[in-house]
Amino acid sequence: MSKKVEVLPEKEALTARALELILSDMETAIRERGQFTIALSGGSTPKPLYEALSTQKLPWDKIHVFWGDERYVPPDHPDSNELMARRAWLDRVNIPRDNIHPIPTDEADPAVAAAKYERHLQEFFHSSPGEFPSLDVILLGMGDDAHTASLFPHTEALKVTDKLITVGNKDGNPRITFTYPFINSARCIMFVVAGANKRPALAQVFAPVADEFTYPSRLIQPQGELWWLLDAAAGSDLKNEV
Ligand code: 6PG
Repeated sequence: MSKKVEVLPEKEALTARALELILSDMETAIRERGQFTIALSGGSTPKPLYEALSTQKLPWDKIHVFWGDERYVPPDHPDSNELMARRAWLDRVNIPRDNIHPIPTDEADPAVAAAKYERHLQEFFHSSPGEFPSLDVILLGMGDDAHTASLFPHTEALKVTDKLITVGNKDGNPRITFTYPFINSARCIMFVVAGANKRPALAQVFAPVADEFTYPSRLIQPQGELWWLLDAAAGSDLKNEV
């Protein structure tokens, strides 16, 4: 694993740096494998990044978009991560409809939806049960409780290591989420974290020793590249590691 930490002065610079890294990974992926696969994070931090991606002239037919987690709501619900990304980015560019791979949230049982998305990923990546295919980039945010994707502290989702997708739980509300082993199979993981409210969680995630079930972002230790892109408000106590 190559872990890199960059602290950028403010959110605009953070967004610009994340865009730069994504475009570089995209160029490499398309050159080497003919396509680029990315999983999006939800929440508010990545919205400017998605808006910046929508202004780029890119080979949209070679780009495939997935989600690393989703709230268990319809795709037109204001909390939907899919809705946010479509409005900020995907509805504004000429990406083929079939290149957008939303997480299903229309099953009565979220576990059925999780299994459905797992099968979809296995079909797309031609992988078998037990294999963990590698996306080119997985974007991640981090909550002020050190959760990432929908892997919340002390939840059952943190114990799932034999699946790609599982059901997360936030305060009793179901979520669909990548498991941490699937996240760790990515070629490049990019945390984009901003805001002073994230400082205490970052201190625990970067501490030499802390409980992974209390601070789930500590579970993200990929074989591939790990980038922590932080604004100064969140990460000024941490030193750059490049
Ligand atoms: C979600 C996200 C989640 C998010 C963090 C940070 O569905 O909410 O995937 O993991 O990245 O909660 O959210 P903010 O960017 O809004 O702080």
